[in-house]
Amino acid sequence: MTKNIPPHKDVSEISNLGNSFNKIVVSRGNPLAKLMVVGEAPGAKEEELGAPFVGRSGKLLDQLLQNAGIDISLDVYFCNVVKCRPPQNRRPTKTEIQENLPWLYQQIKLVNPKIIILVGATALEAILKNNSPISILRGKWINWDGRLAMPIFHPAYLLRNQSKEEGAPMSLTKSDFLKIKEKIDTLK
Ligand code: URA
Repeated sequence: MTKNIPPHKDVSEISNLGNSFNKIVVSRGNPLAKLMVVGEAPGAKEEELGAPFVGRSGKLLDQLLQNAGIDISLDVYFCNVVKCRPPQNRRPTKTEIQENLPWLYQQIKLVNPKIIILVGATALEAILKNNSPISILRGKWINWDGRLAMPIFHPAYLLRNQSKEEGAPMSLTKSDFLKIKEKIDTLK
């Protein structure tokens, strides 16, 4: 079943963030990819370069994808729930998320990915409308609108929790990426 996509606003009206942002950050990667990675919102580096996940978090995300054997130039399309950088990198408000969701739904419709990776709690809550902790839902496949969605820990959280112990966030996330790679391979 297809989601009911609410009508678009003009791009210049995109959220209250319109008063503070410099750039709208839309996407990076292959628009024909089967895997879409959805983050929270651009940070300073993303705003500067006009592409999602190009700062420290993005570099770690790329590394985790590549270490799992995923080709980031071919198999992945990166975007965010919120398209403009919130001031001081604060979490986007519920209103900002609601205002930006139609754009994300359009991206999903156009790219038509089979797999959607929800990076962090904001993406998880915005798409799945589920407030369960990410520590419970991460690594699980969830059917969403005829697609497979999987929440994972945000790389910014992994950068703050770098323990290599088994069962620590980093090792759990590495195993999540192996699951994702396995799933991509079944689609080829
Ligand atoms: N964090 C996100 O959630 N998205 C980005 O694009 C960068 C950092």
